[in-house]
Amino acid sequence: METPYFLFKPKILVQNYLEFENLCQRCFPSFKICYSVKTNSFSGVIKTLTKLGSSFEVASLNEMKLVPKKFVVFNGPCKTEEELKIAIKNKFLINVDSKSEINKIYNLARGNNLEIGLRVSFKESKFGFDEKQLIDMVDYAVSKNLSVSCIHFHQGTQMNLSEYKANLDKLSIFIYFLDKKGIKLKYIDIGGGFPDKVQLKNLSLNLENYFNAINQYLSKFNLTIILEPGRNLVCDAFELITQVNVIKENFGRTYAVLDAGINLLPKITLSTYKFSKLNKENLNPKNKTSQRGEYILAGPLLFSNDILGKFFGNLKEGDLIKIENVGAYCYNLAWELSYKKPRIVAEKN
Ligand SMILES: Cc1ncc(COP(=O)(O)O)c(C=O)c1O
Repeated sequence: METPYFLFKPKILVQNYLEFENLCQRCFPSFKICYSVKTNSFSGVIKTLTKLGSSFEVASLNEMKLVPKKFVVFNGPCKTEEELKIAIKNKFLINVDSKSEINKIYNLARGNNLEIGLRVSFKESKFGFDEKQLIDMVDYAVSKNLSVSCIHFHQGTQMNLSEYKANLDKLSIFIYFLDKKGIKLKYIDIGGGFPDKVQLKNLSLNLENYFNAINQYLSKFNLTIILEPGRNLVCDAFELITQVNVIKENFGRTYAVLDAGINLLPKITLSTYKFSKLNKENLNPKNKTSQRGEYILAGPLLFSNDILGKFFGNLKEGDLIKIENVGAYCYNLAWELSYKKPRIVAEKN
């Protein structure tokens, strides 16, 4: 098969989703799982999750077109009128990011009452409202006949537990304050940020630790918890298969140049990729053309930082390398630089 290509493993996605959902059922009396479409918007992922009953979180018109129009959360700082119109028509939960957006929704809703969410940030960022603004924004929304039914707070990605807890603590104090002010919410949308399996293992943690933290800080409010997982569901459900096209030596080092590099595996995904050789080593010493040693795995781009990692073992030109843990952000962030985005092939059940 022509390389490079992504291999989608639906069974793993199903297993990850069911594990996530079972844990939600055990921990939260009321919850909604809204998969973050931006993490990997391959149609096979959306179809598999739809069959399993997942809801979705979208951030653009493009993403809206990919998901069934049931309970959908619409996030983002740059919503257009066209997107807002579709979101209003299909009763998406719009997590409002700015005062300008409130005005647009008011105009588009023509004064009709709508439920909205508001995004809060506890540290400086381009997202949502700071705490003080948000209190005023609730009143402003009400003056525009919009009821605030949700507070949205997304912490970041690959969150470690202590930071996650510290943020939940701030969120719980904030929601307590809103409650005392008579602002009655239906939902707390805690966004995504749950680490992938590899990262959880590295941190010696599991999902339950994160869900227990959510309960510790938020269960007292008796609200529906919205979760927007991305990488935790898809990261290990994809592999990338790439070929060693060139073995070369210079400056005392040996390079294996692959047909996939940082164009497909950018560092900003924050995933830890795992490399292994797909084809078995030919054990007949007469046929042995590969050499045991340390290889620098380089990509094909004409950029000197196009380096993926190291490989210890035997490699020769034509060998196939399997790269694991590439399901989150790699495909959606892939650059079409010199090369096209690769195909995604789904593994048969
Ligand atoms: C608002 C929002 N929700 C959910 C996610 C998914 O995050 P993760 O893949 O870390 O679960 C993101 C990622 O950027 C996000 O911005």
